[in-house]
Amino acid sequence: MAKDTGHVVGIDIGTSKVATVIGKVAEDGAVEVTGIGKVESRGMRKGIIASLDEAAACVKASVEEAESMAGHSVERAYVSVGGTHVRGFNSRGVVAITSKERMITRDDITRVLEGARTISFPQDQQIFHTFPQEYLVDDQDGISHPEGMPGSRLEANVHIITGSSTSLQNLGTVVNRFGIEVAQPVLNLMADAHAVLTADEKEIGVALINVGHETTGIAVFEKGALWHTHVIPIGGAHFTNDLAVGLRTGIADAEILKKKHGCALTALVQEEDTVEVPAMAGKRTAVVERMRLAEILQPRAEELFQLLYEDIRDARLEKTINAGVVLTGGGASLSGLDEVAQGVFDHQARVGEPAGVRGLTNLVAAPLFATAVGLVLYGAQLEAREGGSRKRGGLFGRLWRGIREIV
Ligand SMILES: Nc1ncnc2c1ncn2[C@@H]1O[C@H](COP(=O)(O)OP(=O)(O)OP(=O)(O)O)[C@@H](O)[C@H]1O
Ligand SMILES: [Mg+2]
Repeated sequence: MAKDTGHVVGIDIGTSKVATVIGKVAEDGAVEVTGIGKVESRGMRKGIIASLDEAAACVKASVEEAESMAGHSVERAYVSVGGTHVRGFNSRGVVAITSKERMITRDDITRVLEGARTISFPQDQQIFHTFPQEYLVDDQDGISHPEGMPGSRLEANVHIITGSSTSLQNLGTVVNRFGIEVAQPVLNLMADAHAVLTADEKEIGVALINVGHETTGIAVFEKGALWHTHVIPIGGAHFTNDLAVGLRTGIADAEILKKKHGCALTALVQEEDTVEVPAMAGKRTAVVERMRLAEILQPRAEELFQLLYEDIRDARLEKTINAGVVLTGGGASLSGLDEVAQGVFDHQARVGEPAGVRGLTNLVAAPLFATAVGLVLYGAQLEAREGGSRKRGGLFGRLWRGIREIV
């Protein structure tokens, strides 16, 4: 294989499915999807691992599926992190530039980012991302690459992501169990951003919302940086539960009905449409108006987006999302959900399907693959940059590795 080309692997360990994507990275940086694995999750609750053995078995099955499609084994992977244990907050670091030349070096940048990380947070949490937002050199703000600039004071605004230490360790344990090394744990929303957002959206302001199985996460990007992250404990499973209760049917049947006939907006449903609802034990199958499903699902969708809207309003970011809202995660496939988001946020909303890859694109063209595809794109970009910095000089390359982030 030619130098600087290789495979990048993403494993998205979600509450409802474990998705693996293998991408082959070409010389020009393009990513071709060569392997995909998707198995139903067991042993996960709200984005965290509840049973190591069950989760490990699912990871194994998902990776093996992708390996057999790609025709080679996986040794290293970028692994998603999501769930309500994840927290995001902004911080700032300041350092003096003391070198004789008063020229900002990579070392200064590493120091200022390290400084921004020295903050207090709960003991059971650990930092797994430090995303730079902007640098300030002697009070001049809005600088993205301060290296080589003259100055005596360097400041960095950053968005820090922490997660439960136990959860992060458990993710490592289940992946390592099969001899796979974790290249980096990556916030699922950041992976999604790499798969579904355009550079323009990230620049002019966008809210990315991942509707997962038991949780939904929101991330706000503007000026090419991440400013806000929040996760709430409501996801696709709650829509299913509402249907099961409202239609008096089982969870598994409600899940099928939701995917096949569900709609989050009554206005989109034809009055005369009907669906068959399997009954609970001992009762007969019922014929129900499809409108009834929408009447159950719409309030849940409105509540979900209302909570997310209030969250970004509390963070005073509701006016920054000029490019609107982009939905990912399996839950985003619910018909009409984008229109409900549009109504609540009063901004355009679209469903984000993974883009930016070649190869088996038709197999990953669904919002539930955004995280796994995004992990591959994130990893490929990170490795291209690190390959570049290693070529430029060994020491710089190693120093730079301290903060491994790509927004
Ligand atoms: N066509 C569809 N219509 C409605 N909902 C759907 C559809 N397809 C998938 N879903 C829902 O998407 C949810 C799963 O989404 P996803 O695969 O993104 O979750 P996950 O990554 O496993 O979970 P999490 O990120 O919360 O840990 C399920 O609740 C499922 O019912
Ligand atoms: Mg997910």
